[in-house]
Amino acid sequence: MSGELKFPPGFVWGAATSSYQIEGSPLADGAGPGIWHRFSHTPGRIALGWNGDVACDHYRRWTEDVALMKALGLQSYRFSLAWTRIFPDGTGRVNPKGVDFYSRLIDGLLEAGIQPMVTLYHWDLPAALDDRGGWLNPEIADWFADFAEVCYRAYDDRVPMWCTINEPWVIVDAGYLYGVNAPGHRNLHETPIASHHLLEAHAEAVRRYRSMGRHMIGLVLNLEPKTPASQKPEDVAAAARADAWINGHYLDAVRFGRYSEDLRAIFGDAWPEWSAERMQRVTEPFDFLGINWYTRAVTRYDETRPPISDARVVPADAESTETGWEVHAPSLLETLTWVKARYGDLPIYITENGIALPDPPSAPGGRIVDPRRVRYLRDHLRVIHEAIEHGVDVRGYYAWSLLDNFEWASGYAKRFGLVHVDFETQRRTIKDSGWFYRDVIRTHGATLTAEPVARVR
Ligand code: BGC
Repeated sequence: MSGELKFPPGFVWGAATSSYQIEGSPLADGAGPGIWHRFSHTPGRIALGWNGDVACDHYRRWTEDVALMKALGLQSYRFSLAWTRIFPDGTGRVNPKGVDFYSRLIDGLLEAGIQPMVTLYHWDLPAALDDRGGWLNPEIADWFADFAEVCYRAYDDRVPMWCTINEPWVIVDAGYLYGVNAPGHRNLHETPIASHHLLEAHAEAVRRYRSMGRHMIGLVLNLEPKTPASQKPEDVAAAARADAWINGHYLDAVRFGRYSEDLRAIFGDAWPEWSAERMQRVTEPFDFLGINWYTRAVTRYDETRPPISDARVVPADAESTETGWEVHAPSLLETLTWVKARYGDLPIYITENGIALPDPPSAPGGRIVDPRRVRYLRDHLRVIHEAIEHGVDVRGYYAWSLLDNFEWASGYAKRFGLVHVDFETQRRTIKDSGWFYRDVIRTHGATLTAEPVARVR
């Protein structure tokens, strides 16, 4: 590749986290328990019995973390609000100390010259609401919008970008269908109901925002191209099912007001008929689409995993990560051009992209050498640049993640950070990939053409 890459002038460079994954102190200052607190304290749910009681201790060390963001030159920081800190019981009583925590964080970010991007829901539902049915209770759209409204009132004067729900697909696929994430259900019938309620909650939060917010609000979806492992009809059909389930599922609903017939075929009688009025309700226009993108999936038929009956395979010659995901940057172009072709011109932010690698637990000598992460970032950013040249309106990029953190059911075993965290000492060390990203930001992407060097400092 020759010549410098030029990203559009306003293109935003950021990094992302979520509350339960980094904060620790989940019950501090009057916060209520969330479903992840409950789930991680249930034996057998999380690898090695880990939980988020301490995590990165960000709740107490956030000033240090903002200083790290500044050292990296981040222009924006995407983080989520713990609903449980603001409404300990999910609804009703607001906890001023919880509201204050994020207020101080937002002020700290702005003082450091970093724009906050706030996610309202990144998977940690107040346990009190789960006790009332959680995402299966149709009232949740109002519960969520009431929570959102308090957040808009408290922070919209300082927050230019809001995300409603992070990855409804993972919430239902892992939380309601296969049971590996909180709340740990395995129920075919519940799954589409939770899905639809997530979209109703998203849409209701957007409607409330229109009546009082002054900036931009969007939805965050994880998208992943599916390629059949062979031309055998069962593999081709499994890839098509997996594609409908993860890719078309939510976008068809919010843009076209319908669910694809493929989903009905997959779920059979378990797929409910939603009234026209309820389908219409989820089509509330929003300002941008956040895309979380990690990998593609070469897909094989697997009869042991109904109803989608798919398994991910990593081709023999391909690079695989600690999460068992194939590294395949060119497929990101496929996703971005598909979104534009099928759903039209939506402003897009890549709200997450990153790689779990076997970084060591500590960083003796103050250095973490992670050339594979450097390569991953560089290759994906090059592809994003290519997509922009194809006319896709990508406006920003958020690396996942700022810090090594609590990777849900995998606990602390999967490290995605630009910044290494030693979970014994809480010492932070900017990895080589973090320094690389700092230079990308400083040059507005121009350094992406260079081959990665061992240490860019
Ligand atoms: C989630 C993050 C998670 C990351 C890596 C995304 O699905 O939004 O919370 O840590 O992927 O698995």
